[in-house]
Amino acid sequence: MNSDSVTKQNRRRFLKLAGAAAATLPLNTMPLVLRAASAAGDKMKIGIIGSGKVGGAIGSVWVQAGYDAMFSSRDIEHDKALADRLGANAFVGTPREAAAFGEVVMISVPYHALPGVGKDLADQIKGKVVIDTCNPFTFRDGEIATWARERGAGVASAELLSGARVVRAFNAVSYRCMGVAYKQPGQFGMPIAGEDANAIAVASRLIRDIGYEPVLVGGNEMGKYLVPGTRLAGERAPDEIRKIAATLD
Ligand SMILES: NC(=O)c1ccc[n+]([C@@H]2O[C@H](COP(=O)([O-])OP(=O)(O)OC[C@H]3O[C@@H](n4cnc5c(N)ncnc54)[C@H](OP(=O)(O)O)[C@@H]3O)[C@@H](O)[C@H]2O)c1
Repeated sequence: MNSDSVTKQNRRRFLKLAGAAAATLPLNTMPLVLRAASAAGDKMKIGIIGSGKVGGAIGSVWVQAGYDAMFSSRDIEHDKALADRLGANAFVGTPREAAAFGEVVMISVPYHALPGVGKDLADQIKGKVVIDTCNPFTFRDGEIATWARERGAGVASAELLSGARVVRAFNAVSYRCMGVAYKQPGQFGMPIAGEDANAIAVASRLIRDIGYEPVLVGGNEMGKYLVPGTRLAGERAPDEIRKIAATLD
């Protein structure tokens, strides 16, 4: 057997195991408006690092779905205004406070900020599920992006956020769709990549709760395809993502 077929076979085994773990959680498929009124007790607290276009859009729909979320950035006045608009489930803090608050943490900063964020928040994110939306662009982020692209974004982010259980998600769709996907639940797929089956299950639930169907494409090494400009990028149906992912190594 050549190394290509071994890699594909290992990946298929990994996807099967991680998929089985994800299926054991009570994944909720009710429309968002219904879910918001139910089961508030089983909702994890979410810390959001970076409350710009992506952190603001996704965090807002999680809050609308009944999650408690703490927004953070280096501009607390901006975050206060956002939280005021969202109501009682939205909180504001420093990045450290948000990372400590969240049972799950989402990081949505420009890639050049990721090494610093990873170091500053190392104690707070250790062992936690961290959703990484960050994309390395050399024109914006400089050398760290060149390094991350050479390694592959999934492997690079896991290294920069070492100690956390990283799941790459929301990377290659527009922030404009993130706040409205719940209106057509399941119509759009969300390719995700990560190594830890339980973290994948937790992230999958959060992704489903805002209207996307999560599609696991593989471990950290497959995170290199979760960036704009690849064949997986853009708003796609879940089956389309599965078909494309099956052709990738
Ligand atoms: N825009 C999209 O459609 C899209 C889609 C998918 C993925 N992404 C990726 O997701 C990430 C965020 O994108 P975005 O469009 O949301 O960017 P954005 O609108 O510029 O927001 C970035 C946020 O990060 C905060 N931030 C920057 N440096 C920080 C630091 N050191 N500590 C804490 N917070 C910091 C910014 O606030 P302050 O500067 O005030 O701190 C801001 O709240 C990027 O890596 C991007 O490539 C973007």
